[in-house]
Amino acid sequence: MRITRPLLMLMHLLHAGKPCTAVHTRLLYQDITNSNGNGEIHFRGVRLHVESPETSVSAVQGSNATLPCHYRYEPELSVPRRTRVKWFWQPVVGEGTEKDVIVALGSRLRSYGDFKGRVRIRRSVQGDASLVINPLLIADKGRYRCEIIDGLEDDSVTVELKFQGRLLPSAESWKEGLDWCNAGWLADGTVQYAVSVPREACGGMDLAPGVRSYGTQHKTRARFDVFCFTSSIRGEVYFLQHPLKLNFTEAVDACVQDGAQIAKVGQLYAAWKLVGLDQCDAGWLSDGSIRYPIVQPRLNCGPPEPGVRTFGYLPKYLKYGVYCHKPKW
Ligand SMILES: *[C@@H]1O[C@H](CO)[C@@H](O)[C@H](O)[C@H]1NC(C)=O
Ligand SMILES: *[C@@H]1O[C@H](CO)[C@@H](O)[C@H](O)[C@H]1NC(C)=O
Repeated sequence: MRITRPLLMLMHLLHAGKPCTAVHTRLLYQDITNSNGNGEIHFRGVRLHVESPETSVSAVQGSNATLPCHYRYEPELSVPRRTRVKWFWQPVVGEGTEKDVIVALGSRLRSYGDFKGRVRIRRSVQGDASLVINPLLIADKGRYRCEIIDGLEDDSVTVELKFQGRLLPSAESWKEGLDWCNAGWLADGTVQYAVSVPREACGGMDLAPGVRSYGTQHKTRARFDVFCFTSSIRGEVYFLQHPLKLNFTEAVDACVQDGAQIAKVGQLYAAWKLVGLDQCDAGWLSDGSIRYPIVQPRLNCGPPEPGVRTFGYLPKYLKYGVYCHKPKW
C-alpha cells in the first residue's frame, strides 16, 4: 500500500519534532521502495536526500582529505533553503561518543577542538556539504557523520576516513587489549612484524608464522592496524641528555657516542608501558618519527590520557631530542 501525500503530511505533523519514530521509519519504507542506504526524509511533500558517493576515503597522512556529502531536494526547490550542516567524528573501533567537528549555517562556520582551523565545508556546488580537512593529523582517522538539518528534519550519512601508506602506532592498542609482538617498520612506511608463534592479537591464530603486514586495509584486521611487539624489553630506553637539539643524523650518532643505539618505536612503547618511562620531551626514533612517552598526563604534555605522543614523520633536518636504547644482557 502506498501512503498518499495528505496522509503523509498528517502523520508528519503528528510526529514533528520527534526523532525518527517507528511510524516515521515505516513511512519511509513504504514510500521509498528502493532504499539504497542513503538518508531520505520527507516534509511538506518534498524529500531531502543526503548522500555520499563514497562510504570511505583513503588519505595519506600529512596531506589533506575531502569527505564527500551532498544533499538535494526532490522536487527541486526554486528558493534555496537555510540548511545547517554539521559534521561529527567518532573513532572507528571501540566506544567513544561523537565529537563535533564543524557546524555551518549559511556563511557562518564554527569548528571545534583539534579540528579548529583545519576544516571547512567545500560548497563547490549547490548542496555540497563535503568536509575538507587540511592538514590531516593521525588522530583524524575515524568515522565522520555528515548531518543536514532543515527545520525540524535532519538526516545524515557516514563516511570513514582511512590512512593508506604510513600507519602509526597509537596508544589505542592498549585499550584494545592487544598483545605485543616484535614490530618493525619497513622503508615504505607500512607496519610489518615478525611472529614466531601465531597469536590472536597478532593477526589471528590461523595465520602461519612469518612476516605480517598491515599495509593493506582489511576489515577484520583494521583494529590491529597499530602494531605489536614483544612484552620482554631487554635493556634500557632513555631520553639522551644532550646540550643541543639534534637533526636525525646527529641523533643517530649521539646515541652511538653514548654506547647505545637510537631507539625503535616498539622499544619506546615497551618502555612506556612496561617500565613507566615518562618524559615530556619529543625525540627522534629510528624510523624517523618523533615521539615522547607520557604516563602521568600533565599540562603542556599532550592529551589527558597516558600514551606515547607522536608528531609523526617530520623532515630529518629538524632538531629535536633523541631516545636511545642500550642493550643489557
Ligand atoms: C591536497 O592534497 C592533494 C594531493 O593529495 C594535493 O594535490 C593538493 O594540492 C592538496 N590541496 C591543498 C589545499 O593542500
Ligand atoms: C644534520 O646536521 C649535520 C651537520 O651537523 C649535517 O651534516 C647533516 O647533513 C644534517 N642531517 C640532516 C638529515 O639534515
